[in-house]
Amino acid sequence: QSLTQYHTFSLPSNCSSLISISDPQQISLNNLFPRPFYLLGEGSNSIFIEDYHGTVVQNKILGLDFNESKNSIRLRVGAGENWHKLVSTCLRNSWYGMENLALIPGSVGAAPIQNIGAYGLEVKNFIESVEFLDLQSHKMLKLKNHECKFGYRDSIFKGDLLGKVIITHVNFNLPKENYLETSYGELAKLIAPSPKAIFDEVKAIRRQKLPDPNVWGNAGSFFKNPIIDKKVLGSIQCDYSDIPHFEVSDNLVKVPAAWLIDKLGFKGRILGGVQCHPKQPLVLVNLGDAKGQDVLEFARLISQSVYTKFNIQLEPEVRLIGRDGLIEL
Ligand code: FAD
Ligand code: EPU
Repeated sequence: QSLTQYHTFSLPSNCSSLISISDPQQISLNNLFPRPFYLLGEGSNSIFIEDYHGTVVQNKILGLDFNESKNSIRLRVGAGENWHKLVSTCLRNSWYGMENLALIPGSVGAAPIQNIGAYGLEVKNFIESVEFLDLQSHKMLKLKNHECKFGYRDSIFKGDLLGKVIITHVNFNLPKENYLETSYGELAKLIAPSPKAIFDEVKAIRRQKLPDPNVWGNAGSFFKNPIIDKKVLGSIQCDYSDIPHFEVSDNLVKVPAAWLIDKLGFKGRILGGVQCHPKQPLVLVNLGDAKGQDVLEFARLISQSVYTKFNIQLEPEVRLIGRDGLIEL
C-alpha cells in the first residue's frame, strides 16, 4: 500500500497495510492492532523515509459538540477532524481565540501531541483536556491540561505516553472574554486588529512564507528552534552580534534555527531531490523525486554543520519513520 499521498512530504514509500478507525467504541483492539503499527493523522509531521513494515492506522474519528456557558464556549472535537477547518468553524461562529493557529496542516488529534503553535500562541492555551484510548489497559482515559506536560513543541504524548495511546477527542475551552495576540512582527502592524483580521493576516503570511505541501512536499519546520544557555549565546555573539534571540528563562534563550541554517549558506541548496527552502530555510522540500536517503543525508549535514559552527545540537521536529518505526536522525 503506497503512503505517498498519506504524508505531506510525499516520499515514494509503502506500508504492509493501511486501515482507518472512525469509531472509538468499536475498536476491537486485538483485531485492529496487528503490531507493529503507526498511528497517522494527516501525515503533515511524519516522513516515511523507507517502506514501513507494519500497519498504518489512520485516525478518522469525526464530530464536533459544543456547549455555551456565560463565560466560555466548550468544544469536544473528534481527533480526525481537520485542524484548519476547526479554526474556520470557530471563527464563523464567533468562538474566538485560535485565529493565530489558522492554516496549520493536520488533524485535531495531533494538535496536543506537539502542542502546535504559531504567531505568538500555542494550542495548550485552549485545551481543557485530551481523551484517549489507553492501549495497555484498553480503557478510555482523559488527561486535564495541567497533566499533559505541555511545553514548546512537546507534551506527555511525545514522552511517557508515546506509542501507548490513541487520542480520540480533544476538549477546548474558549473564553468569551478573549484577548488578541498581535505581538508577532507582521501581526503587530495590523491597523484594526480583530479575530477576522488576524485570521486573514496569518493565512496571508503563511501562504507567502511557507511552501504549499500540495505543490512542494514538505513537513513544515524540520527542526525545533533550539533553546540554549545564555553562555553559548554570548560566545556566538562575539562573532555574530546580530543573532536573534528570545528570552525563555534567566539562563535560557530560544534562537531561530532558520537563522543558524541561513548563516551557513544552506538556503536554496539542493541535495538529491531535496531543497532547503529559499524563503524559509527551516523547511526541507521534496522537489518531486526525493528519496528518503536524500532527506536523512541533507538533514544530517545541516545538523552537523550547525553543531560544528555554533556548538548547538538541533533536534528534529518532524517524525521520521523507517522500516521498523520511529528512527533518530
Ligand atoms: P501526523 O503527522 O499524522 O502525526 C504526528 C504524530 O502524532 C505522529 O507521531 C503520530 O503517530 C501521532 N498521532 C497522530 N494522531 C494521533 C492520535 N489521534 N493519537 C495519538 N497519536 C497520534 N506545526 C506547528 O506547531 N506550527 C506550525 O506553524 C506548523 N506549520 C506547518 C506548516 C506546514 C506546511 C506543514 C506541512 C506542517 C506544519 N506544522 C506546524 C507541523 C504539523 O502541521 C503539526 O505537527 C500537526 O499537528 C500534525 O498533524 P497531523 O495530523 O498531520 O500529524
Ligand atoms: N530567519 C532567517 N532567515 C530566513 C528566515 C528566517 O534568518 O530566511 C530568521 C529570522 O530571524 C526570523 C526567524 O528566523 O525572525 C524566525 O522565522 P519565522 O518567523 O519564519 O519562524 P520560525 O522560527 O522559523 C516558527 C515555527 C513555525 C511557525 C512560525 C510562526 C518552530 C520550529 N517553527 O518558525 O512552525 O509557523 O514560527 O510562528 O517553532 C512548524 O512547526 O512546522 C512551523 C512551521
